[in-house]
Amino acid sequence: MSFVTVRNIFQSYGTRPILERVNLDVAEGTFVSIVGASGCGKSTFLRLLLAEERPTRGEIRIDGAPPALEPGRERGVVFQRYSVFPHMTVLDNIVAADAFTRRFGLLFGAERRAARARAAETLDRIGLGHMAEAYPAALSGGMQQRLAIGQALTARPRILLLDEPFGALDPGTRLAMHDFLLELKAGTNMTVFMVTHDIEEGFKLGDRLIVFDKPRWDPTDPNAYGATITYDLDTRRRDEGIQTLLEETNVHRPA
Ligand SMILES: Nc1ncnc2c1ncn2[C@@H]1O[C@H](COP(=O)(O)OP(=O)(O)O)[C@@H](O)[C@H]1O
Ligand SMILES: [Mg+2]
Repeated sequence: MSFVTVRNIFQSYGTRPILERVNLDVAEGTFVSIVGASGCGKSTFLRLLLAEERPTRGEIRIDGAPPALEPGRERGVVFQRYSVFPHMTVLDNIVAADAFTRRFGLLFGAERRAARARAAETLDRIGLGHMAEAYPAALSGGMQQRLAIGQALTARPRILLLDEPFGALDPGTRLAMHDFLLELKAGTNMTVFMVTHDIEEGFKLGDRLIVFDKPRWDPTDPNAYGATITYDLDTRRRDEGIQTLLEETNVHRPA
């Protein structure tokens, strides 16, 4: 059963085609890694899923309906990079994301204490336990990024959209974040779309790895055509998949 259905999507900015003929069916609970050359339309694709933009042509359905214009808990909550609330402590930023999943967005008494305890655990997992009472302005860029990911994961949306979430992190922190994400995913039925530059990371975390690329390429006019999904790989066949990427695609070609 397809949970996210993308049918023949085209997206242009002005006269410039960015995406063309994009088709995809994703079952609920699937982790989809997305790779492709810089500027080929990966972030645009995420914005379409989030209904931040409407496609020029084609249709997207999430659980049978168009993506909600105001994403709530059901569909596509994302806390993008630096989406943290500057006036709240690091701990309260996580509590706020937890409260966001509740009916009235507020937590009181025992419920609030429990949420604070969970938030403290989350901060330990993402290596920010020692910064719980600090304000975001005191955090490094990488720490702010971890906090934003901690918020996103705490909100436990049905669909999680991550746009190059781990790029700025050092290798050790990145591995810790991978474990955290995989654990959360195993404990929920979350559907994840994650754009990454790191093919190894894409294979490690994803169930599927899709490649955006331009099937048609005019060397005299690189912007003449848009990108589409040229490969849709099963990450259980990792070695074969990597071979395919190396031999048949050039995901690093500038768009
Ligand atoms: N709102 C916009 N208006 C005009 N051009 C845009 C807009 N958003 C993105 N673009 C252009 O569309 C192309 C694809 O962008 P993007 O989706 O951000 O690529 P990627 O995430 O794969 O690097 C880029 O050339 C970018 O400059
Ligand atoms: Mg992008």
